Amino acid sequence: MPISATIHYNDVGFYGTPITLRLQLPAMTQHSHAESGIAVYRRLLSYVLPQWRRFVVAALALVVVAGSEALFAMMMKPMLDGTFVERDPTTIAYTPIALIAIFLVRGIAAYSAEYGMARIARQVIKVLRGEMFANMLHLPVSYFDLTPSGRIISKLIYDVEQVAMAATDVVSILIRDSLSVVALLAWMFYLDWKLALVLLIGAPLIALLIRVINQRFRRYSSHIQESMGTVSHIAEEVITGQRVIKTFGGQGYESKRFEEANENNRRLNLKLLSTSAASVPLVQLIAAMAAAGVIALALSQENLSVGGFVSFITAMMMILQPMKRLTKISASLQRGIAAAISIFEFRDTPCEEESGSALLTREHCRDHPISIEIEHFSYPGKEGLVLEQIALEIKPGEIVALVGRSGSGKSTLANLIPRFYELEHGTITVGGADIRSYTRESLRAQIALVSQHITLFNGTIANNIAYGRLDGTPEEAIIAAAEAAHAWEFIRQLPQGLQTVVGENGALLSGGQRQRLSIARALLKKAPILILDEATSALDTHSERHIQQALQLLMANSTTLVIAHRLSTIEDADRIVVLEQGRVLESGNHRQLLTAAGPYSALYNLQFSEK
Ligand SMILES: Nc1ncnc2c1ncn2[C@@H]1O[C@H](COP(=O)(O)OP(=O)(O)OP(=O)(O)O)[C@@H](O)[C@H]1O
Ligand SMILES: [Mg+2]
Repeated sequence: MPISATIHYNDVGFYGTPITLRLQLPAMTQHSHAESGIAVYRRLLSYVLPQWRRFVVAALALVVVAGSEALFAMMMKPMLDGTFVERDPTTIAYTPIALIAIFLVRGIAAYSAEYGMARIARQVIKVLRGEMFANMLHLPVSYFDLTPSGRIISKLIYDVEQVAMAATDVVSILIRDSLSVVALLAWMFYLDWKLALVLLIGAPLIALLIRVINQRFRRYSSHIQESMGTVSHIAEEVITGQRVIKTFGGQGYESKRFEEANENNRRLNLKLLSTSAASVPLVQLIAAMAAAGVIALALSQENLSVGGFVSFITAMMMILQPMKRLTKISASLQRGIAAAISIFEFRDTPCEEESGSALLTREHCRDHPISIEIEHFSYPGKEGLVLEQIALEIKPGEIVALVGRSGSGKSTLANLIPRFYELEHGTITVGGADIRSYTRESLRAQIALVSQHITLFNGTIANNIAYGRLDGTPEEAIIAAAEAAHAWEFIRQLPQGLQTVVGENGALLSGGQRQRLSIARALLKKAPILILDEATSALDTHSERHIQQALQLLMANSTTLVIAHRLSTIEDADRIVVLEQGRVLESGNHRQLLTAAGPYSALYNLQFSEK
């Protein structure tokens, strides 16, 4: 636990701002991370290195800022003694000019320092984000399965900001504030070393006293944040769940829940207000007593002039802010390092590694079957076999259908072909060689996949059909694909046609329309291997039949793996494979399986009788 103390000199702040002094002693445990922290910080600074010229300029500006700060306090003595006490005409004439000059120089330096550091920080943020995004595009599918997307996004958004702030803020504070503190302290000791010594010892004691008062204050603030969270959480749930609330009559329950949170929030706010209303005057009283002590001590000595005394007090006030920032530096450093560790960890997550360099071509796929031999497969980080003992061959131009209960492993099997997951125990060959011998890019280029989970991007319909490497396809080809997928009929009716924006993941379209777009995308790719995972499940029978014809055309030229629940759509398949808990139960064509009167025939009769 870090020990911290805060003093609020609410009415005596320099430039009219309240001054807060917080002393924070780093806890012992923080040292154990010191070594890795240094390594991380060094890596972070390597992002700053390319901008070292800008950094040097900003650092020099910081030195000027610190110098002008100390100079201001020092000037107080000759200025006051010269003008009010001795009434020296030269001092009287030059004092206002000197004041303006100091603040002009200080202003320019402060601007250059802040702007320069911010530029460095923004550049670091941009580079880090770019690198992380590039990494994100090549991470294995399993990484996304196991990491909540919110976590990844917060790394990309918040952690990066934190880190860049740590990289530049900490350096600014170290340079500017440590110089200010040293210069001001030296000045105070020069003016009156006894007074300075008393102050140096007394301040932390007062700080500790005030910390106790503020602790209570902070406890309530964090409770208020929590209760605010509950209020907004309930409201959010009511907004998103309003249909459920309406149909299930949840109004009473929600009102009661909200009333509780609302009341709790009111109570906590009042408590906070009463503590703060009491603590501010209390803190001020303590601060005033401390100031009175300093004045009394100063007055009891003969050697301080008026100017010297004011100069001392000014230095004392001015030293508080930089001191506060310096004592907080360890906390912000730790925060920055924690964020940096999180970022670098993401940055270092291995991408999908290439295991082969051969290039799979369309001709290879046309001449060779897809052969799947799985000893067993389970998902990374998850126990239990999902597939076992599967041997399956799909000859070029053949259509093989996978059927089976939900969760039997059909999609898993399909996802192994484009290497979304690594099959460690078993082999899949495509185009005459193990899929691991090809580059992923060339393997995936030969596969058109309509997956069970449709993904559309928030762009136009045209961009969604001609996505990725298909970008730049002539409009006629896009329309032809859309027609074949029976998507053109609805696209045509949209006011903006192909240029209609579909919303986040196609939110502005119906389920069947989305599915038709993803089929059009696959049709446009014209790949020799076609995988259809429940590609037509959201369509009405009429559209499905039409699409079936289009798919039939496509399937004639491809090697196809099709997954379907509605058995009527796969009756014509060359082979039907029935999966059950990751194993093949039976296989054969439609007629053979019906004659065998096994599980397929039972399932078929069930679906048939439902109609
Ligand atoms: N990404 C994943 N990570 C871990 N386990 C998974 C993952 N995807 C699926 N599973 C598990 O693997 C098993 C098979 O899932 P799969 O998606 O292959 O079933 P399916 O036959 O396609 O089912 P459905 O007909 O419902 O689509 C299920 O038990 C599921 O919980
Ligand atoms: Mg599935």
